[in-house]
Amino acid sequence: MSLEQLTHHPPSPIQELEDALFREKGIRVLVKRDDLLCLPVEPGDRAFCGNKWRKMKYNVWEAKNKGAQTLVTFGGAFSNHVAAVAAAGRLFGFQTAVFIRGEPTFPLNPTLSFARRCGMQLAYLSREQYRRKEDGRVAAEDQSLYLLPEGGTNALAIQGCAELAEEILHEVQPDYCCVACGTGGTAAGLVAGFEGRVRTIGFPVLKGDFLFNHVMDLAGGKNTLPVSAWTLQNDYHFGGYAKWTPALIDFIRYMEARFDMPLDPVYTGKLFFGVWDLIANDYFPRGATICLVHTGGLQGVAGFKQRFPMAGL
Ligand SMILES: Cc1ncc(COP(=O)(O)O)c(C=O)c1O
Repeated sequence: MSLEQLTHHPPSPIQELEDALFREKGIRVLVKRDDLLCLPVEPGDRAFCGNKWRKMKYNVWEAKNKGAQTLVTFGGAFSNHVAAVAAAGRLFGFQTAVFIRGEPTFPLNPTLSFARRCGMQLAYLSREQYRRKEDGRVAAEDQSLYLLPEGGTNALAIQGCAELAEEILHEVQPDYCCVACGTGGTAAGLVAGFEGRVRTIGFPVLKGDFLFNHVMDLAGGKNTLPVSAWTLQNDYHFGGYAKWTPALIDFIRYMEARFDMPLDPVYTGKLFFGVWDLIANDYFPRGATICLVHTGGLQGVAGFKQRFPMAGL
């Protein structure tokens, strides 16, 4: 796979959703289908897609320019980021290695067995070791290794996500852009790229109010961005990371049946649920155009189904 393909690609499609609710409220709802921006390693795999493509793009270039041979990262056993790094290794000719949080479990879950098929080396850290993982600066001086942080958020990732904002602006001029937040890197890139022209709304999938200042710092906008540039909606985490309720699962199934829109229960399901709820509760003014970013994450669905068969997803 050539690096050029990472940079020169058609924009991901924008899909408009029609619904009686939107007509009643006088709003337009668009979805930026970044999940369809995808480079599969195996037929149908969905690891190097969506915000992973955007976040990894300049990191892959940088790793090549530095002559690195191995991409090294960290993450949980079901992490979309880990799957994406494994895929990037196969696609662009790197070895890959990951430090996984927690004990090994066998057989490997779908995310880690995909990673292994891509040739990724897996090492496990206890939760205590994992908390201290940055202390040792895992061989930071070794030029053959290129380190990617957990979740993949760094300055180059934000640069890639800022381009997503430009792509959206080029095609449509929404009033609001809504995105799921983990580390906040994708939202920060959007905020930086929109430069206040579109109000970004981040939907954290983790509990806690730590994200606001963090995203502001990442976006580099402390004193320059207007307060209207962005906000967080903190009420749609469903209890925390990878937590779910039957209402969330029902909503995801409804979205698939009604709009042919595949969502995952960890990120995009919570985002779409939150936006639907805000629309129903008149958060958005009449005449507003809302663009939701479908950041991908569909590689995680198989692991979720295996872990929570009783959810009925
Ligand atoms: C599918 C998906 N959407 C959104 C996010 C959130 O991205 P960020 O960590 O940049 O906030 C992630 C994070 O890993 C993700 O996998």
